[in-house]
Amino acid sequence: MKTIIEPFKIKSVEPIRFTSRTERERILRTAFYNPFLIHADDVLIDLLTDSGTAAMSAKQWAGMMDGDEAYAGSRSFFRFEKVVRELTGFKHIIPTHQGRAAEKILFTITGGKGKSIPNNTHFDTTRANVEFSGAEAIDLPTEEGRQPDLIADFKGNIDLQALKSFIERTGAENIPLCMITITNNSGGGQPVSMANIRSAKSILQAYNVPLFLDACRFAENAYFIKKREPGYADKSVREIAREMFSYADGCTMSAKKDALVNMGGFLSMNDDELAAKARTLLIVTEGFTTYGGLAGRDLEAIAQGLDEILDENYLTYRLRSVEYLGEKLVSGGVPIVQPPGGHAIYLDAKRFAAHIPPMHYPGQAIVCELYRVGGIRAVEIGSVMFGKYDPAGKLVSPPMELVRLAIPRRVYTQSHIDYVIEVVHEVYANREELRGFRIIEEAPVLRHFTAKFEMLETA
Ligand SMILES: Cc1ncc(COP(=O)(O)O)c(C=O)c1O
Repeated sequence: MKTIIEPFKIKSVEPIRFTSRTERERILRTAFYNPFLIHADDVLIDLLTDSGTAAMSAKQWAGMMDGDEAYAGSRSFFRFEKVVRELTGFKHIIPTHQGRAAEKILFTITGGKGKSIPNNTHFDTTRANVEFSGAEAIDLPTEEGRQPDLIADFKGNIDLQALKSFIERTGAENIPLCMITITNNSGGGQPVSMANIRSAKSILQAYNVPLFLDACRFAENAYFIKKREPGYADKSVREIAREMFSYADGCTMSAKKDALVNMGGFLSMNDDELAAKARTLLIVTEGFTTYGGLAGRDLEAIAQGLDEILDENYLTYRLRSVEYLGEKLVSGGVPIVQPPGGHAIYLDAKRFAAHIPPMHYPGQAIVCELYRVGGIRAVEIGSVMFGKYDPAGKLVSPPMELVRLAIPRRVYTQSHIDYVIEVVHEVYANREELRGFRIIEEAPVLRHFTAKFEMLETA
């Protein structure tokens, strides 16, 4: 059959609340045009993030009831540890309450002033944790990865030549580790090829620099490899995932993505000395080594989710449903990052709202309009999220201005997605009326979460 269906039935439902345009205009003003400040009850379709928003399965809920809440040595921890170790092959498995807690521990023990951490593209929390330690976060995407409308298979790759030159220039002794983010979230949710991970490893090995994967979306990345990379079509996604991890010395993981849970994460590694330091810090900041920042029931749900995510029927549906949204938007002329990524569609705000300069945040203008017109919540990934001020106080923008429509796992049906398509088409048709924004209040780090905006009279 040609029709790819949701590979699940729905047993439990949550109502969503409909609001009027007038109500949403008021809500936007009250939230200072920042979607993070809107109450979730006032959102019809929430595409803010795919993180922690998955619908858990009946087996995961059953696992929650079965969770062992012992402080030390809980049975649920050993199940979790076994599943993660079998998947990743890493020696030390350290549970944390979410991905950024793993990053905080990793960069506290490896980062610091004078150190540099390269990555294909650092996610915002990864960058923030690297920089908070005093180290420098360096993005090394490929030339392909910087061109939103170019169609290529592995636009998430790290630039191998740039990596080599960067190590030569910086000195391996100043690079405690290199990260590769799979899939590359801030680079448009694009996958990284096995060949790229393998080659990056061999470059890094020559300089004795460890490789860590930011593995939040490892299963989606593995499925892209199966579909697109020669030699992998007949391998199972589990085998592909194992091979990806086999080139790494460790990983950070936000279980809120490809472990299909609402909270959780882990840090894994092979190095005994580093693991001992990580566990010491874990006990101070997160909790004892057999629970980290999690309850036993959370560990059960993660263990189950890591199994379910590798179901190829699920992955076929998952990638196809994101691709479907992308195809329909493109057919209406909407500019998006091509090809569609694994967990989200990224609107290319520079082309969508070409009359709004980056300093007036074109992505934020689109985000607010999607909410005003259709009650859809999305997120800006551009000058709001990654803009920095130079010493003269002038905004330095990142290369791309994007709006991410992230699709929560197993939550929305095709008619929800059809509704999203209709709303984006309407916003695009009236794009010339979009107006720019000015920030009137912001925090020194991760400003997008709490910044307050004012709409400008003109673009
Ligand atoms: C690539 C990537 N790394 C790290 C994180 C941080 O994970 P968490 O939100 O669990 O702290 C995220 C979250 O969206 C992410 O997408």
